[in-house]
Amino acid sequence: MLKIEEYRIDFIAHLQEKINVVDPKNLYLPIEYILGLGGKRLRPILVFMGVTAFGEDYKEALDASLAIELFHNFTLLHDDIMDEAPLRRGRETVHEKWDVNTAILSGDAMFILAYQLLESYDGVNYKKLMQLFNKTSLEVCEGQQHDMDFETRDNVTVEEYINMIGLKTSVLVAAALKMGAIIANAPEEEADKIYDFGLNLGIAFQLQDDYLDAFGDTATFGKQIGGDIMENKKTYLYIEALKNSDTETKEELLSWYSETLDDNTVKVKRVKELFKQVGSDKLIRDAIQNYTDKAFTVLDTISISEANSFVLKQFGDNLMTRTV
Ligand code: IPE
Ligand code: IPE
Ligand code: MG
Ligand code: MG
Ligand code: MG
Repeated sequence: MLKIEEYRIDFIAHLQEKINVVDPKNLYLPIEYILGLGGKRLRPILVFMGVTAFGEDYKEALDASLAIELFHNFTLLHDDIMDEAPLRRGRETVHEKWDVNTAILSGDAMFILAYQLLESYDGVNYKKLMQLFNKTSLEVCEGQQHDMDFETRDNVTVEEYINMIGLKTSVLVAAALKMGAIIANAPEEEADKIYDFGLNLGIAFQLQDDYLDAFGDTATFGKQIGGDIMENKKTYLYIEALKNSDTETKEELLSWYSETLDDNTVKVKRVKELFKQVGSDKLIRDAIQNYTDKAFTVLDTISISEANSFVLKQFGDNLMTRTV
């Protein structure tokens, strides 16, 4: 069996053992629901890969991997409220199936459950994990705030955008790997390097998410296509489109992004046409490749075995071409 499949199976067994629906049901059922819808489970797998890379047994990291997946799912519940998203993993979002208040509180509970799981680690490692977790959580909030602030701005730069996705997405990908390194008692310098690898991989990952949000397929992606366009999100596609269009196209884009509509069919179709017309779709593919390459350059400096490095590389390559 492939190691990654093994990771996923063990993770799910652990999830089922630890997450139970107790009273009040309306708090815990949405938690079971969202976690049960699956998702790629990337972050727990990255925690396991971090441990394995530094020569320890990945099972040491079961609680940490569940903590990070709970945190990730908590952010999704709140993110879907903020982004007014109807679909997640091919099913109704929690705030649609229940209501907004339920999604807020179940999200909060997942965040607390995540902390509780980290209580299994002792001494120095507990402190290191907590410090990393706290720093990361706050950064994710900062990224999410920038993301929302950008909705009403029309002069967001590529640099600001990369900084924003670094905060809302990459730091968690990086923290997953570093948590693995901490649990494996890796030297600090190496733990920092695997964190840097994760930061670059996380940027490529969010760029791919933005690409799929416009050009993916709901059947595989599991989210509403065009959601970012509807919400006037300043993604790489949009920023590059503005930069590279003539005055007329630029005015049209600005005009679409100054509106919030009830029916978005025409807006989404037209904006996607404009993105293609000015070549944003190609530019984002190049950027995904560049950040993945950067990640691999960092990976080559980490003192781990060829075999472990290969697995991480393969994982990175798969993220770049994913449709889910
Ligand atoms: C979605 O993350 C949020 C982003 C940071 C893009 P994933 O794409 O990892 O979502 P799941 O867990 O697989 O559903
Ligand atoms: C994800 O950004 C960031 C967090 C959830 C913290 P998105 O808003 O792009 O994620 P999706 O596309 O809804 O999964
Ligand atoms: Mg969202
Ligand atoms: Mg969002
Ligand atoms: Mg998205």
